[in-house]
Amino acid sequence: MPFPTHRPRRLRSSEPIRRLVRETTLSPANFILPLFAVEGEGIRKEISSMPGNYQLSIDELVKECVECASLGIGGVILFGIPNQKDEEASQAYAEDGIVQRAVRAIKQNAPNLLVITDVCNCEYTSHGHCGKVVAGDVDNDITLTWLAASAVSHARAGADIVAPSDMMDGRVAAIRHALDAAGLTKIPILSYAAKYASAFYGPFREAAESAPQFGDRRSYQMDPPNALEAMREIALDIEEGADMIMVKPALAYLDIIRMARDRFDVPLAAYQVSGEFSMIMAAARNGWIDLDRVMIETLTAIRRAGAGTILTYFAKPAARLLS
Ligand code: PBG
Repeated sequence: MPFPTHRPRRLRSSEPIRRLVRETTLSPANFILPLFAVEGEGIRKEISSMPGNYQLSIDELVKECVECASLGIGGVILFGIPNQKDEEASQAYAEDGIVQRAVRAIKQNAPNLLVITDVCNCEYTSHGHCGKVVAGDVDNDITLTWLAASAVSHARAGADIVAPSDMMDGRVAAIRHALDAAGLTKIPILSYAAKYASAFYGPFREAAESAPQFGDRRSYQMDPPNALEAMREIALDIEEGADMIMVKPALAYLDIIRMARDRFDVPLAAYQVSGEFSMIMAAARNGWIDLDRVMIETLTAIRRAGAGTILTYFAKPAARLLS
């Protein structure tokens, strides 16, 4: 007879008991903070749709990284916004590009902070697409050469992990091959393996000045209704040499995170993207939800779904709440 013998409320009756039986935990070490590097000095320009997040010149970015290290945050992921954009995304793989210089500066000033670099072209092309545009579409195989060159230049600058987010076919193999050929065999690849063509990236494109000038990203990013396709994408990336995989966005794709966790045994990350952050901030600013509780609840949900690592714009406030 379940009731009255069984009373599940017994294990909810006090905070010490609830803490004892809690199944999911959060730690600052699980978080990766995305940061946006711009040219110049003394620049800290708030992104209007992402309160508390900034375009940062390298000197300011370094300060942010020192703070992340002191908060025990797992690491940062860097996005670069170059002064010059062109058809060939040449600043993406320039030895003295904005991200390459930012990595060197961070490694000098916060040597123990994990630095991941986002490997993509959309911030560097004049048209805002993630690769070489040929006849109105992104050419897969030419783009691979840019990605491989970018990853090598990031790793040479001192990046600890490279994270391709472009969704070209074969990019993990191309990057692994290029890193190995350059003697960078120890650099892991965190692949944005299941990245959807999502409307939740809107605020990021303002932050990174990377909105496509024509068309959209649906010929390379995944169609949101598909789940099995995500499993094929992940399997291919692992075969090609991905050390870690990512699902992106997070909250609208918790089922994909869970499926990936159940099927694959490599470390799994999820990206709580800009639109997820902005929605929560907007509602909180209206007084409609409790910011701190919703922040922790969403991060916990992403962990519960199976992600070990969470890329999140809440990394600093969440780390403070957890300390
Ligand atoms: C680059 C990239 C994007 C994001 C991460 N890497 C934008 C895009 O694909 O359009 C989005 C991150 C966010 O919304 O927070 N390709």
